[in-house]
Amino acid sequence: EKGGYDYFMLKEIAEQPKAVADTLLGRIDAAGSLTLDEVRISASELREVDKVVIIACGTAFHAGLIAKYAIEHWTRIPCEVELASEFRYRDPILDQQTLVIAISQSGETMDTLMALRHAREQGARVLAICNTNGSTIPRESDAVLYTHAGPEVAVASTKAFLTQLVACYLVALYLGQVRGTKWGDEIGAVIRDLSRISNEVERVLETMEPVRELARSLAGKNTVLFLGRHVGYPVALEGALKLKELAYMHAEGFAAGELKHGPIALIEDDLPVVVVVPSPRGRSVLHDKIVSNMQEIRARGARTIVIAEEGDEAVVPYADHLIRIPATPTLLQPMVATVPLQVFACELATARGNEVDQPRNLAKSVTVE
Ligand code: F6R
Repeated sequence: EKGGYDYFMLKEIAEQPKAVADTLLGRIDAAGSLTLDEVRISASELREVDKVVIIACGTAFHAGLIAKYAIEHWTRIPCEVELASEFRYRDPILDQQTLVIAISQSGETMDTLMALRHAREQGARVLAICNTNGSTIPRESDAVLYTHAGPEVAVASTKAFLTQLVACYLVALYLGQVRGTKWGDEIGAVIRDLSRISNEVERVLETMEPVRELARSLAGKNTVLFLGRHVGYPVALEGALKLKELAYMHAEGFAAGELKHGPIALIEDDLPVVVVVPSPRGRSVLHDKIVSNMQEIRARGARTIVIAEEGDEAVVPYADHLIRIPATPTLLQPMVATVPLQVFACELATARGNEVDQPRNLAKSVTVE
């Protein structure tokens, strides 16, 4: 049932192009507009929404962090993202105009369930993004948008994460579409890019051998840091989480701009630092800033592992290892930038002799608070 792979995780990483395509299936019509009628919240109700609050745990929380950039950019509705385990304990401000989005692969995570119950008690509408048909979280929500990743068996989430991102983009674009924001043209173009993104994920998967080789060479290290900016920041957090849970290594993700506010003190000779580089097109200011961050850490001895778009030549002088990803619109970059980090963590875990599908102390679905 592992389909010829040694681990479920490897199989699930490989299934990502299909999982992504399946999650888009039937949700974009021939005219290139979104059809999310299955989300049983009427267009007029969606036009009333004045705040979006996303609640989730772990990897699903990272998907939520990325969703915030997309939702705020395409809809201009303020969006907060909160760890489900923190949410109800701070007396959050919610009302009928708040749209709460609960993201969960299993649909059974107790922290997320308790947070959504609290949100509904306060009168908010809850939309679940979930991978498991008929599970508790979608049953207790007002509406659900299912991800179609298929069953995810490995404890570490991979294909569910990519499909959570797709679902978040769909919700963001749909909200933009029904509310008619000034980004109308951009929304049409992004829907087209999104419909092609599974091919780009496939292309990334075809070039992963050097990443595996690099991972094996780092098996003796104790610490790996991850840096990113904008949507690359949650990608850095996700890369670090994968490495913690699978390789049992000290791994931390930082917003690159925070380096000088403390973390740069951690840089020492030969410390591996993964840098997720924003596109040099579009938000080029961020690109230039991260290039100077790379310069700074390299001057202090870091060994840089750079994930950058094809054709981005400015990073070459500062990259000890260069991992290329296809050019995508900025907001969609996490779809391709995350894949090498999954492969990296999986291979490091194997090289360290760890149980890839069943990391120590972890369970696939966390049904206690
Ligand atoms: C990490 C991982 C966990 C889950 C988290 C939420 O690889 O799998 O962090 O993402 O426990 O689980 P769900 O999405 O089932 O609510």
